[in-house]
Amino acid sequence: MAEFNPIIIAFVCNWCTYTAADLAGTSRIGYPENVRLIRVMCTGMVDPQYIIKAFLEGADMVLVSGCHPGDCHYINGNYKARRRIKLLHAILPTIGIERDRLKLTWIGASDGIQFARTMQELVVQAKGMGPGSGRPEIMT
Ligand code: FES
Repeated sequence: MAEFNPIIIAFVCNWCTYTAADLAGTSRIGYPENVRLIRVMCTGMVDPQYIIKAFLEGADMVLVSGCHPGDCHYINGNYKARRRIKLLHAILPTIGIERDRLKLTWIGASDGIQFARTMQELVVQAKGMGPGSGRPEIMT
């Protein structure tokens, strides 16, 4: 049987976590190819529908990551994101998705090493949880 290779969709803010990912890349710090980055201007613009759609289309884990509290370039976008994630953590189990499959982190622009380490940890966690319920082979 082939090894389970999770798909992780990461919504990352342009100013902090995306920049950290870029820094990891330019510093040649590798991170797992399981992670698919979606760059957004701020975590505050990540609509909960995007997250649910990602799960329904096969993501095994979804990450929202942006600037540390107090550092959002749009003042309070990350606080809005934090509230939405909390709400989604309550809602997701009602549609059959474990709450631990949705993560929220703050990774600053200069944290390339932390970015790579976080992605590695997420892949380990996702492998431990097994395939998400949105995987096509499970839906059929
Ligand atoms: S600009 Fe980074 S979270 Fe708002």
